[in-house]
Amino acid sequence: MTTNTIESILQENRLFPPPSQFSQTAYIKSFEEYQQIYEKAKTDPQSFWADLAEKELHWFEKWEKVLDWQPPFAKWFVGGKINISYNCLDRHLTTWRKNKAALIWEGEPGDSRTLTYAQLHREVCQFANALKELGVHKGDRVGIYMPMIPEAAIAMLACARIGAPHTVVFGGFSSEALKDRLNDAEAKVVITADGGFRKDKTIALKEQVDLAIADQGVPSVEKVLVVQRTKEPVTMVEGRDYWWHDLQQKVSAECPAEPMDSEDMLFILYTSGTTGKPKGVVHTTGGYNLYTHITTKWIFDLKDDDVYWCTADVGWITGHSYIVYGPLSNGATTVMYEGVPRPSNPGCFWDVIEKYGVNIFYTAPTAIRAFMKAGEDIPNARNMSSLRLLGTVGEPINPEAWMWYYRVIGGEKCPIVDTWWQTETGGIMITPLPGAIPAKPGSCTRPFPGIIADVVDLDGNPVKPEEGGYLVVKHPWPGMMRTVYKNPERFRNSYWEHIYPKDGQYFYFAGDGARRDEEGYYWVMGRVDDVINTAGHRLGTMEIESALVSHPAVAEAAVVGRPDEVKGEDIYAFVTLENQYSASDQLMKELKDHVVKEIGAIARPGTIHFTDVLPKTRSGKIMRRLLRNLASGQEVAGDTSTLEDKGVLEKLRGG
Ligand code: WTA
Repeated sequence: MTTNTIESILQENRLFPPPSQFSQTAYIKSFEEYQQIYEKAKTDPQSFWADLAEKELHWFEKWEKVLDWQPPFAKWFVGGKINISYNCLDRHLTTWRKNKAALIWEGEPGDSRTLTYAQLHREVCQFANALKELGVHKGDRVGIYMPMIPEAAIAMLACARIGAPHTVVFGGFSSEALKDRLNDAEAKVVITADGGFRKDKTIALKEQVDLAIADQGVPSVEKVLVVQRTKEPVTMVEGRDYWWHDLQQKVSAECPAEPMDSEDMLFILYTSGTTGKPKGVVHTTGGYNLYTHITTKWIFDLKDDDVYWCTADVGWITGHSYIVYGPLSNGATTVMYEGVPRPSNPGCFWDVIEKYGVNIFYTAPTAIRAFMKAGEDIPNARNMSSLRLLGTVGEPINPEAWMWYYRVIGGEKCPIVDTWWQTETGGIMITPLPGAIPAKPGSCTRPFPGIIADVVDLDGNPVKPEEGGYLVVKHPWPGMMRTVYKNPERFRNSYWEHIYPKDGQYFYFAGDGARRDEEGYYWVMGRVDDVINTAGHRLGTMEIESALVSHPAVAEAAVVGRPDEVKGEDIYAFVTLENQYSASDQLMKELKDHVVKEIGAIARPGTIHFTDVLPKTRSGKIMRRLLRNLASGQEVAGDTSTLEDKGVLEKLRGG
């Protein structure tokens, strides 16, 4: 549920205009040009998107109608036939890009691989044929649970090629979380690997798949396709599990891309919401292809000779849109890195930049804050002069981290694009265009052309400049999610029934609080619902609470985010125990491990606070606002008159 008061937290007035040299060669060269395009798109969004769709993408058949909007359900390029794998691969093969590096991959142990467009195309076609061999048809859902290796991208493109919607599950999720997602999607086949390398260890992915599907855990799964990566032993079930390298020998490298309806489902990606069960966010083909294509091109100012690197994992939307689909649709060179910064190699990101001469670098504020902590000597010891543009995503960036990124990584010459968007939006929504919009540290600046954003109150009225309100989008856009998989009602009530404009219009409610300054710049302040952003990962407090109460010792749990210097927010859990249990360090550890087992390591609570009581209203609702205050060590602010037991705060402080 939404809270009514949103306070403004950032005050920052420094302005960083785009360097003139950058602007001269940029796609959008000046603020005036941005404004012109923006106004044109606002006046006639349909022609704006249709012109781009015509110019930027290949269509097997043109659409009959640009937009069919039956709120809250949108259809884009209705009747058009398109295939995103064709747009990412085939169309580049008839140009000089055929032998250009499409994917540069660096493994954590230091191995590497480069695939040209022709090679990537070949592998995707083979993989698509392997899926067909395993009985996958158009419309069947395929689970992908992979480390960050080229085959993860190949698998996604292969699914797209034959029209089988994929659902990628982040490799850090546990078998339990994997099971829930595969069941909801009713996946027919799962693509995985024996394991992957992460933080100098191996993670046993195939084993997690085995656990998830054992004992009819996921009855829909018929086959498992396994890529060899770590070469550690795995159990292969005859007739169910297949090695990719075996199938690869047998399949043809020819597989024409299936002409898909523009509105055919491209993928489902699960994300956290207000209730315990993750939502299956559905994206479709034509609109998503266009939206990720054009945002990648204009926001990253992506040119043919650029080496572009986004550090996300393909298990998240950022990996889908800005490692795989957006860059490849543009015919760019996209870098994929298996590792993450780790004690044995805290400078690994900078090594990758130096090794491949990366020009455009896109990462998360939590990573930047960790680098700040590790010290600037580490990046300073590398030559990163190839960089020309930096980006951030995932959470608000504090001005201090922005300045460090600008100075230490960008050498005070690279514009920074602070990009606001969500799994649901498909692509970037509010962001600087780097050659056109002066940046203010901590602000994601202005909406992308075609995006009609606003900051409003609960009646949908715009709030005054500098006042806090709810971030909304007032007109459909091609990259928007279409529904929650198998649950249109949840789509409607999660996103379209919070804000009620008096004139009956539909506003997309993002779940974020924001303010707009006098110059029209947006400052996103964070979630206003029960979702937390921890170390760049989005988790629902209810998900973690359900995991905790599934442990026999736990009677009740309430989870809140506590501000954290590096992670942004850390998970803080208040727990009451069943009578026969008592608090101990041992139990605390057991509960943390239990959450890891139920969801994954990304959800491990930083703190478990045992208490006898939780603050509740007379109607029995847990007062999270009070718990947030307590967790962050602040005075309990605001009204406590609805609190049922006034003594509870004292007990919690003492606890
Ligand atoms: C937050 C990630 C401030 C926001 C692409 C949003 C941001 C949630 C920014 C979506 C940003 C993302 N500034 N906050 N530049 N980018 N967020 O679905 O709270 O994993 O609602 O998508 O991240 O997270 P998700």
